[in-house]
Amino acid sequence: MQVSGQKIVVLGTGGTIAGKAATPGDNIGYTAAQVSVEQLLHAVPGLKAAAGGGLVAEQIAQMDSKDMEFSVWSALAKCCAIALADPEVRGVVITHGTDTLEETAWFLHSVLDAHKPVVLTCAMRPATALSPDGPQNLLDAVAVATTAGAHGVVVVAAGVVHGAQRVQKVHPYRVDAFNSGDAGPLGWVEEGTVRLAQNWPSAESGQTQGAIEKIVYCTQWPRVEVVMSYAGATGSLVDSLVRDGVQGIVVAATGNGALHHALESALIRAQRAGVRVVRSTRCPEGQVLPKPGDVLPDSGGLSPVKARIALMLDLLP
Ligand code: SIN
Repeated sequence: MQVSGQKIVVLGTGGTIAGKAATPGDNIGYTAAQVSVEQLLHAVPGLKAAAGGGLVAEQIAQMDSKDMEFSVWSALAKCCAIALADPEVRGVVITHGTDTLEETAWFLHSVLDAHKPVVLTCAMRPATALSPDGPQNLLDAVAVATTAGAHGVVVVAAGVVHGAQRVQKVHPYRVDAFNSGDAGPLGWVEEGTVRLAQNWPSAESGQTQGAIEKIVYCTQWPRVEVVMSYAGATGSLVDSLVRDGVQGIVVAATGNGALHHALESALIRAQRAGVRVVRSTRCPEGQVLPKPGDVLPDSGGLSPVKARIALMLDLLP
């Protein structure tokens, strides 16, 4: 589709980028989600000029992203879909907490027809910090959203552009907290210009057909839990999840999808009882390579939390 509009829609959801601390030197003892998205935009010199055709702000939520809820994802997906369909809109920027940012990015990638850019950004330091990272990240996100030919759901943080599929928060404190593992970044934002290392991600993930309608009208999301394989693991957690009515289980396996034998037996019992079971790896890089005869399917390269989202979407009625 030809993108002719000029507006950038900025959707605020909270996070550290909108956080406030009592003292400027405090980068950890702050409260997330205190500053409105409108105020965030006003605080960045040159942002309006960088956006060119105007910035439109909308507050979708004001939350710490550790508490992310399906209702917020649903509202966010709906607003993105409306903005993407508007010929006046060039792209969407979303301000978000870092803690579950990769999950929201993957969710949006999975449900949107993102033929225009949908750029999630964030900050590791609160807005009140001596040297906050949020303003530069916002400026960089707008630079990506206004780049000719940009499309798909991407994450911009610390000058790096990541695709939704591989991006992960890998550090609890550093400003440069995100990484795309062995896939590498999509590119970088350098003084307002994007330098690409890879192609933009695909606009459509394949699940978009009717996905938004399903999500918006869904009253109860499928229950999918994540369990982990480790030394001394047992199957009792899985057995109790099955008794509790779980519909899907993602297991964060060791190495190339290996499972403690007790956990594996319980997962196979769960699968036989009709629960969908998917194997991911707890290794931060690479992906499970399937072998002939695997009883439990692998996650196709998705991390445990993203495999959970994929399975929930698959299980949506
Ligand atoms: C959050 O995820 O909302 C808080 C942490 C952060 O944004 O860095």
